[in-house]
Amino acid sequence: MNCFRCLKSMLLLVGFASFAFALDPGPKLPGVSEMKGERAVAIANASRQSTANDRPDDPLTAVGQCSPRLNFVQLAQAQNEPAQRQTIQSNPVTDRRSLKEAVGDRFKIGVGVGHQVLKQPDDAALIRQHFQILTPENCMKPQSIHPKEDQWNFEASDQFAEFARDNKLDVVGHCLVWAKDDRTDEWMKQENGQPVSRETLLRRIETHIETVVGRYGDVVTMWDVLNEALADTGDNLLRDSVYSRATGIDFIVTAFKTARAKDPDALLIYNDYNDHKPEKREKLIRLLTELREKGAPVDAYGMQGHFELGENEIPQLRKTFDELRKLKIKVVVSELDIDVVTRGRWWADNGSHREELAKYDPYKDGLPSEIQQKQIEQYVQLFKLFEEYPDLIVRISFWNLHDGQSWLNYFPWNRVNYPLLFDRERKPKPAFDAVYETLRSARPGGAKAAP
Ligand code: GLA
Repeated sequence: MNCFRCLKSMLLLVGFASFAFALDPGPKLPGVSEMKGERAVAIANASRQSTANDRPDDPLTAVGQCSPRLNFVQLAQAQNEPAQRQTIQSNPVTDRRSLKEAVGDRFKIGVGVGHQVLKQPDDAALIRQHFQILTPENCMKPQSIHPKEDQWNFEASDQFAEFARDNKLDVVGHCLVWAKDDRTDEWMKQENGQPVSRETLLRRIETHIETVVGRYGDVVTMWDVLNEALADTGDNLLRDSVYSRATGIDFIVTAFKTARAKDPDALLIYNDYNDHKPEKREKLIRLLTELREKGAPVDAYGMQGHFELGENEIPQLRKTFDELRKLKIKVVVSELDIDVVTRGRWWADNGSHREELAKYDPYKDGLPSEIQQKQIEQYVQLFKLFEEYPDLIVRISFWNLHDGQSWLNYFPWNRVNYPLLFDRERKPKPAFDAVYETLRSARPGGAKAAP
């Protein structure tokens, strides 16, 4: 009896402690506007040291770039730092809805995140609740993981892979080759002070791919083998880069063949942006057809899907998907978000609007409901379209976990953005509700089917 009483009081104590813990939201973090100052400093510091832009050829225009630029490593630092400060010891998760349950086995649902994000318990919990597959935002990119010919930086990617293994999640290896000069280190581009020869470049690509795929092949189920090789404008099929100058299309062929030889079971992806727009779509189809003819094993097209509010891309996407279906190439939506502070003007008119835009931060105090509504409708239209192609679409991944962590708060200028389904406190937004319901009602058996 005594023992029973003792047990009872212990249970009461534990119960009281958990209740108190649930009530205590933990240390308060700075609000958005307070944090903006700190972020701005991080970004300004990074900008001053940097010469590489995160997206030098913008999808929209591809005119020459100017202005201070962040490279992705610096962007990641700027992103991760505030992301850590933003840790909110939120109330225990009470919302049991889950994107992955709504999706079922129709396709994989994923998210691209920095490796630091995985160390934050609240972020990790949200990831586990909703997603099946993770893309490392930056740490596996060639410049991060392979900074010199004989030097490798595996630490962050190892941590990323370990998190995925521990949580039984898949990984998208992103990316093995990024076909842009400003995404490529000098050691890769040069040989004895001269532009690198075709043979050396192809050999370096092979070594890089064999090493990365060999190390992470157990946990990576899909590889972004090639990122952004197509020219945005003009007649050339491929963008001008050390890769196309030295080898024509052969670097792509070598990259895919090497990846397949090392990892025969993984889905191999060609990843790019804006290829649903007519001019680039024609190039995409031409590229994929040529690669096929040359025996390059491309399984899927990665449609990045960095959309802007108000774009009506549905008819063009439908046309692209139809053409890919004919080619028997699958589709992954690899980096989905919808920018509400649209960025097209940044590149327009030779950059003459940049000074004005750099001060443009219209939603710093919150998002008006009509803008939010427009974004919801755009998300729903996109997901309805994706659901029309269940045989084609194998994955949909968001780019970043919640609004506070999105790259679109920093690129191409600092502004408070709201591109995702979770808000800055990691709470599902109305856009989440709408996407979740769209996914649920598209399930065989409709919304009533058991999750
Ligand atoms: C491209 C790349 C991604 C990321 C985004 C911007 O889409 O594929 O890795 O750098 O730009 O964050």
